Amino acid sequence: MHLHRIWPHLLSITICIVALVQPNTESGIEQTLWVEERFDDFILAYWAKGGWKGASSWTGDVLSRLMVSYLSSQGEVANHSKVNEIFAHVVSRSLSAWTLIQYLTQANDDFGWTVALLLEILEYTHEYEKRYPDTSSSARLPILRGRLAFRAAFLHDLMIESWTAELCHGGAEWYVRTRRRFVWPSLGVREIYKNTITNHLYNGNNAQIYNAYDGAVFPVGVIEIAVHGLRVLGKIIRPLFGGSRGHLRLFQFADVALLGRATKGINWMDQTDLLTEDSLYVDGIRPRFKQFSPDTSPTVVCDVRGEAVFTYNQVAGLRALYFLTQATGKGEFLRNGHHAIQNLIDATISGNLGWDGILEENCDRPGNCSQDMQAFKGVVFLEVQRYCRAISGDATREIRAWHVDQCRQYTPWIRTNAAAARSTIDNKGAFGGYWGIKHVNHSQGGRGRTIETQFSGLAAQLALSFFEKSFSE
Ligand SMILES: *[C@@H]1O[C@H](CO)[C@@H](O)[C@H](O)[C@H]1NC(C)=O
Ligand SMILES: *[C@@H]1O[C@H](CO)[C@@H](O)[C@H](O)[C@H]1NC(C)=O
Ligand SMILES: *[C@@H]1O[C@H](CO)[C@@H](O)[C@H](O)[C@H]1NC(C)=O
Repeated sequence: MHLHRIWPHLLSITICIVALVQPNTESGIEQTLWVEERFDDFILAYWAKGGWKGASSWTGDVLSRLMVSYLSSQGEVANHSKVNEIFAHVVSRSLSAWTLIQYLTQANDDFGWTVALLLEILEYTHEYEKRYPDTSSSARLPILRGRLAFRAAFLHDLMIESWTAELCHGGAEWYVRTRRRFVWPSLGVREIYKNTITNHLYNGNNAQIYNAYDGAVFPVGVIEIAVHGLRVLGKIIRPLFGGSRGHLRLFQFADVALLGRATKGINWMDQTDLLTEDSLYVDGIRPRFKQFSPDTSPTVVCDVRGEAVFTYNQVAGLRALYFLTQATGKGEFLRNGHHAIQNLIDATISGNLGWDGILEENCDRPGNCSQDMQAFKGVVFLEVQRYCRAISGDATREIRAWHVDQCRQYTPWIRTNAAAARSTIDNKGAFGGYWGIKHVNHSQGGRGRTIETQFSGLAAQLALSFFEKSFSE
């Protein structure tokens, strides 16, 4: 083992020791109350009629996911009217017309995030029903589930078409090409990009949707019927323009082909040149024409990498691994997920994606993060927390116990990050974007404090509450 390999581990151990000597119980209760207040303030400040003030489509989706995760973390003694209020907000935003028609202008990853959200809400409806069995809202859940499931199925059916086998031996494309092909038939390979996040979402949604609903879905309401009709019509006339027809039957949940797509997608990512020397995912890969010799015709090779390394890409694949573990019971998927988390933790120590164990986006220090980038750290905590839920389904008792053991070991790292985020709070209670040691000079840089920096800060706090409650040391 080289010295530079040992260093990160020594630092990991130091962080663990420092974090372990902190008293737990009192600070735990204080932390919980403080987190409650932050969420209350956040909702008051940022909820707008039908959406989130200042958020984009996808950052609003991950924010709603954070809210569902927050609701799910509420114990039995939770204020029921508050739970209902937040739940109603999140649901009404997801049942807006935009959820469905966004596919006309957005890229595959955008509505991939929406599907991920819809699936989380669907799952939460079952928790809600268990907690509040005899309420009028519980009585309405079957209808709500049908509508959420229709939307998830509709958007996922579109996203399935992002996978193209003829280029790069597979992989999901970022843009919706079939739509553009109607308008500009001469689309070239340069406009094709197979990026990490779209593929993580494709894999994760395939794995999660498999078990998300047990029934047939059909459109209800004007917009649903209209988009569904357009889609069926599109599938029928597509062959006239050289496209494939695709199946016309309604979307099938619990179809093992969904799990097959997820594993195929994971294998494709493993075999594609998407990793740096430190096993970190780069942003993506695109094809180009290459002429091997003057007398052969050019062929397409996929080797133009988008080299940017972002935090969220390192763990956005966890959902696929979690749901595949659940569906197959195989420990291999689970191990790969924990490996990805440990690899990210190491990157927050080595300087690749942070220092001193504190997560850092490469744009954080210069203070030039875009709106998207400001939300990436929040996605990390959302996904790591999601991954550390208990495994049910076919996994053996050993595998489940090992999972809990691994997750427990992340608690100090989560605590370090939540504390770092908390130290950036200004006098209005807003989180800064950069949580590193030198954040004082940079937290106002770039876009400053936004709904996305709130999202990231809150996600770290919620993760800490979850880890302290679930894996008390
Ligand atoms: C419960 O939540 C509602 C709605 O957010 C709020 O008005 C009320 O004061 C809360 N009650 C308690 C006891 O916290
Ligand atoms: C931010 O600034 C740094 C340093 O000037 C530069 O290297 C980096 O590319 C910029 N990042 C973005 C996202 O603009
Ligand atoms: C931050 O800014 C203050 C005042 O401008 C300066 O004294 C300090 O050295 C800066 N710190 C860092 C880490 O750049």
